[in-house]
Amino acid sequence: MIPRSFIQQLVGLCEIEDVVSSYVTIRRAGRNPKGLCPFHSDKTPSFVLYPDNQSFYCCGCGAGGDVISFIMRAENLDYVEAVRFLAKRVGLEVPDEGEDSSGQLKARILEINRETARFFYQCLKSPAGKPGMEYLRDKRGLSMKTITSYGLGYAPDSWDSLLRHLHGKGFRDEEMAAACVVAKGRNGRYYDQFRNRVMFPIIDLRGNVIAFGGRVLDDSKPKYLNSPDTPVFKKSRNLFSLNFAKNAADGRLILAEGYMDVIAIHAAGFPNVVATLGTSLTEEQARLMSKYAKEILIAYDSDGAGQTATHRAINLLSDAGLNTKVIRMEGAKDPDEYLKKFGPTRFRLLLDSASNVIEHELEGLKAQIQLDTAEGRIDYLKRAIHILADIKNPLEREVFAGIVAKEAGVMPEAVLSQASALMKKRFSARERQEWREIEQGKANLRDRINPEKAQNLKEAMAEEGILAYLIQHPDQIQPTGERLEPADFVTGFGKRVLESVFQLARDGDEVNITALGTLLTPQETGGLARILARYAGQRMTKEMLDDYIDILRAHKDKLQPGEIREIEPDAIEEYRRRLRQKK
Ligand code: GTP
Ligand code: MN
Repeated sequence: MIPRSFIQQLVGLCEIEDVVSSYVTIRRAGRNPKGLCPFHSDKTPSFVLYPDNQSFYCCGCGAGGDVISFIMRAENLDYVEAVRFLAKRVGLEVPDEGEDSSGQLKARILEINRETARFFYQCLKSPAGKPGMEYLRDKRGLSMKTITSYGLGYAPDSWDSLLRHLHGKGFRDEEMAAACVVAKGRNGRYYDQFRNRVMFPIIDLRGNVIAFGGRVLDDSKPKYLNSPDTPVFKKSRNLFSLNFAKNAADGRLILAEGYMDVIAIHAAGFPNVVATLGTSLTEEQARLMSKYAKEILIAYDSDGAGQTATHRAINLLSDAGLNTKVIRMEGAKDPDEYLKKFGPTRFRLLLDSASNVIEHELEGLKAQIQLDTAEGRIDYLKRAIHILADIKNPLEREVFAGIVAKEAGVMPEAVLSQASALMKKRFSARERQEWREIEQGKANLRDRINPEKAQNLKEAMAEEGILAYLIQHPDQIQPTGERLEPADFVTGFGKRVLESVFQLARDGDEVNITALGTLLTPQETGGLARILARYAGQRMTKEMLDDYIDILRAHKDKLQPGEIREIEPDAIEEYRRRLRQKK
């Protein structure tokens, strides 16, 4: 563990507004500076800084925490990495960690993964790996050079060969299970997770093996087996082959669908290619790509599923500020097949002629509709206008309106005015939708961090009030500790935060969001940021504290007069006032 005193010192030097303003354009309006949230596609400034307690909270997506939480998200780092990042920024030396237990487990998992990748690679080259080698080399046409540079391997058709190998290297069953390279059966015995599959190690930017994908050698199901999330791996935050692509990107990245496509494209001389890890593209991945490139060429499969995924990716990528183009492959189902059939030179032409997103969508539309009937042309126009209404640049919109008009045999002005009308209509619809999403986002988020809140609304809100009060009035923590213990709280989340508050006070440490962040998970710290945001700028009184404690006591005594039904910020105040009047 990095000493808490160091973290406090560090955060004391990293003014949140100062750090955040390298990422977000901050508008000073009143007490709390605001900006467009960098963590979701925000159209109204919902990202708020609270200089009083050095926290931030986005009421749009619910992201929140202290300056360390901010850097974790913005730079895609874990806690310790974020501390190092900030220390570097202000020129502080991070004292030796002495490795906490979760850091130790992570280090063990990375060792296991590395040893596992090595084992699969050795198997592939050994006589036992013949089926795998035949598949990769003969059936898929990979060179030894490609196999070696990707570290591809073969998981033998056995229930325990990896298990035994790792035992021999001194690893324990539980550690292997945490790495998800073995699983525990119903009989309590462990067995190899990947069997009779060719293996693709997933490697992060630091060269760590963080996960695996494994493909069957025939048509059996499931075709691919991918590692689930583990302490060292989040599939939504990583991209296959980014370790190679980032050095070759040169402002442009190719985004493909599958491991084999990436490998084939790379082997054909285009190393600037990545793929998602068996899931559809996420916002985090789009943001990650935007660190290495300005332009993305989408090279998804040409089937229906690929086209739907393309459409979705276009939106995510442009929200991340990336210029996006689409590759149209004809005569092949995916880039792997295209390269085999037509070769690298034709593929390069394909890359160079990648169409702009609008062209791509209009072409796709034309392919679906019969333009030689009046009905068909009307249908085409109706749908094309929806595409045109997406174009933000007016000049570009006019150019494409001209193309559409020509296809449908109508006047360009008519098309353009229809598109403008649709844009206006959408704008107000979007405002409404955005509000709905915010409301939903909030509700979901609360559920995730404090799932018991919905059933115990009044008590959960009293708990939040107590926590906010104690953080505002640290001198009251000790006396309150004599009247209240974590077990008096109803929700698990509340109990954990209160316990942490008491622990810091016992240790004689300062009690603030940063110190609490060293004891809570990042999600819990985010939940705490929301609570602090809610009471920011409000002076809480001793009377409020007493009332909140009464509410929890009443719950304990099973005297539960009145219920709060709505998740409504002011409901708890109303309830408190009513109780007081009754007295
Ligand atoms: P092949 O060329 O048939 O080896 O596969 P591919 O690389 O072209 O992949 P495909 O287009 O079939 O699928 C794209 C990606 O989706 C793969 O690379 C996998 O990450 C993922 N995927 C495919 N099939 C499965 C499956 O059965 N289970 C899971 N979890 N992921 C899969
Ligand atoms: Mn394929």
